[in-house]
Amino acid sequence: MDSLACNLANLTVLKSGVERLTLTDFRNYANLRIRAEIAPIVVYGENGSGKTNILEAISFLTPGRGLRGARLNDIKRFIPQVNYENSVSFVSPLSWAVAAEICNNGDVFNIATAVEKNLKELDDADEYRSFERRIVKIDGNKASSQADLGRYFSAVWITPQMDRMFRGGSQPRRAFLDRLVYAFDTEHAKRISAFEHLYREWYKLIKDARKDSRWLASLEEEMATTGVAIAAARREQVARLNAFIENEPDDVFPSVMLELDGIVEKSLDTKAAVEVEEEYRNLLLKQRYCVMNNDTPDGVNRTDFKVFFKKKGMPAELCSTGEQKSLLISIILAQTKCQTLYKGFAPVLLLDEVAAHLDDNKKEALISKIRDLNIQAWITTTNPDIFASLRSRAQFFKIKNNQIFED
Ligand SMILES: Nc1ncnc2c1ncn2[C@@H]1O[C@H](COP(=O)(O)OP(=O)(O)O)[C@@H](O)[C@H]1O
Ligand SMILES: [Mg+2]
Repeated sequence: MDSLACNLANLTVLKSGVERLTLTDFRNYANLRIRAEIAPIVVYGENGSGKTNILEAISFLTPGRGLRGARLNDIKRFIPQVNYENSVSFVSPLSWAVAAEICNNGDVFNIATAVEKNLKELDDADEYRSFERRIVKIDGNKASSQADLGRYFSAVWITPQMDRMFRGGSQPRRAFLDRLVYAFDTEHAKRISAFEHLYREWYKLIKDARKDSRWLASLEEEMATTGVAIAAARREQVARLNAFIENEPDDVFPSVMLELDGIVEKSLDTKAAVEVEEEYRNLLLKQRYCVMNNDTPDGVNRTDFKVFFKKKGMPAELCSTGEQKSLLISIILAQTKCQTLYKGFAPVLLLDEVAAHLDDNKKEALISKIRDLNIQAWITTTNPDIFASLRSRAQFFKIKNNQIFED
């Protein structure tokens, strides 16, 4: 594996990350500016001071709904107003924005994202409904799709909410995997949103009992093609990560084994894509009755992403909370290295309260891994002393009263 290690060392010389970040009416910040280095960045402050909000803002430089999966309407700054009866109401500015100067292997780009209000004509009447949409600008030009961001910037994150990822329903695991995929394959973000759109339309059409079988068949055709492309991309990413992890040290962050549990993905084990497309089309046709009965139809919308503690052969959902966090860190570290190697630029790491649940040994190991990766990593904590050993090579920012101060 010497050659791989050597490649990585060469590639990480070219740095990538956020060099300037500006938030406008974003959550608790009216206006915030940060000049950042491509290095570890420790953001500290009391509970509720606004640390996660900064990481969330950075996550909006990637496609999707950010690291909280938030509704656009919750993000613009709420300003509490106490009126004369001592009751509290809120006012809000009309919009919010995140702007960033991005360094991508030495090239500088300006990315901005904000919400835009639009009017949509309702189906039948001359009525309009207003709706909000997130728009993206790259160097001042409006991008046709959020997926275009993937060519300039990429981020991977670990948040406290993900502590529960291995337990319960498959949706958060699937979303996690899909984000890993589109860091490599920008088209994947487009496919996922296209599939969701088709699925909703198909579902509604069946529920409305509109017997337009030609329309349904054409939706099923498109869902099958898009679905098989989604399944194939997921398989490729899981195989890529598993192969990469083979050569990674099995240390305090244990080796993981990744698996896909999905009907379409399984079919691709033994059949050609065209065959699986036909099979999926027939499956959808048969499953129209599922929708009528309020059952969730099977397909790429139900695929589960399974993670195992390799040495123990233990499924992640049966591991302890601390072990689960370590498994998650293992995946994120593998993804980061793999992405740097194959894609040519490093992702930015967003580590929200990552030290929680880790013992001292693991905390130190994580710090040394972050240092070795030599990339930009935003780390939030209520206790900056935990990261004291990073002092000489990291930026430290304190958050207080909705403002940021560099140490
Ligand atoms: N849309 C909003 N407008 C104004 N304040 C908000 C908004 N959304 C969340 N907040 C505030 O932001 C704070 C939480 O910030 P967060 O970044 O999660 O804190 P922490 O430092 O604990 O990570 C809370 O005080 C919350 O009330
Ligand atoms: Mg937080």
